[in-house]
Parts: sequence; structure tokens; C-alpha cells
Amino acid sequence: MRIAIGCDHAGFRLKEAIKAYLVSKGFKVLDEGTYSEEAVDYPDLAKKVVRDIKENQADFGILICGTGIGMSISANRVKGIRAALCLFPEMAKLARAHNDANVLVLPGRFLGAELAQWIVDAFLSTKFEGGRHSNRIEKIERMMEN
Ligand code: RB5
Repeated sequence: MRIAIGCDHAGFRLKEAIKAYLVSKGFKVLDEGTYSEEAVDYPDLAKKVVRDIKENQADFGILICGTGIGMSISANRVKGIRAALCLFPEMAKLARAHNDANVLVLPGRFLGAELAQWIVDAFLSTKFEGGRHSNRIEKIERMMEN
């Protein structure tokens, strides 16, 4: 499985920890930066990760900023992207099972590496349930057209 990962300066440390974790588990990781704690604008990094998914260079994305809110707002501007800000493994599981989320968003300022790894595990190991949830996803996609 191919994972594109991106962060701003506030998510840099957690991004490095998650990247190392994913590599150790055998995932192919596409690191879109940022590569230091020097200040950058989170929409620029969201754009890169979202592009990787849209262009089929990655199966899922992970985005990290300070709160996770800026990355969520940015990524969800793009058609076909369903970015979910998750604080607990159960939220990540449901984001995949019910919302077919294709981007996991994490708050770098409010999450330790260990809990973040559990959230990532839950996200990447859960499949979309389809069924009644498919209709809801289609309705979300139609909202993008207006
Ligand atoms: C950067 O200071 C901060 O605004 C950003 O990381 C994020 O929390 C925005 O939503």
C-alpha cells in the first residue's frame, strides 16, 4: 500500500515519527514534506498529498498540522477527497468504514506518537463498508458540483 504523507512545521515531528513507523511496517511512503520546523503554509502541503491521490501515486494520504483543522479544510476542497481529522483509533476506523475517508488528518500539537500510530493502524486496516454509506458518499460528491 502506498501512503503519501505531508505536514506543516507544526506537524513535522509527528510526521517524521509516523513516516518511520510506516516504513518499518513495509508501507511505501511518499514524503511530500515539509522537511523541517521552518514555517510553511499548510495548504501547499495538503495540495501535494491530495494530488498524489488524484493522480494515483498513492492509495491514501496522511496530513498533519498543529490542530489538523487547516489541513482538513484544505484537503476537503478537492473533489474526490474525503479527509478525516481523527483523535482516537475508533474515529479512524469509522472514518474508513462509514465515510470512505482517503486522507487521515492528525493534530501534531495534540497527539503523541504512540496514540498516532494506533490511529494510523486503525485507519489503514479498515475497509469501507459500502451499502447504505455509499449513497451518503455520493451525496457528498454531488455537493461539490454546486
Ligand atoms: C500553524 O501555526 C498552524 O496554524 C497550523 O499548523 C494549523 O494548526 C492550522 O490549522
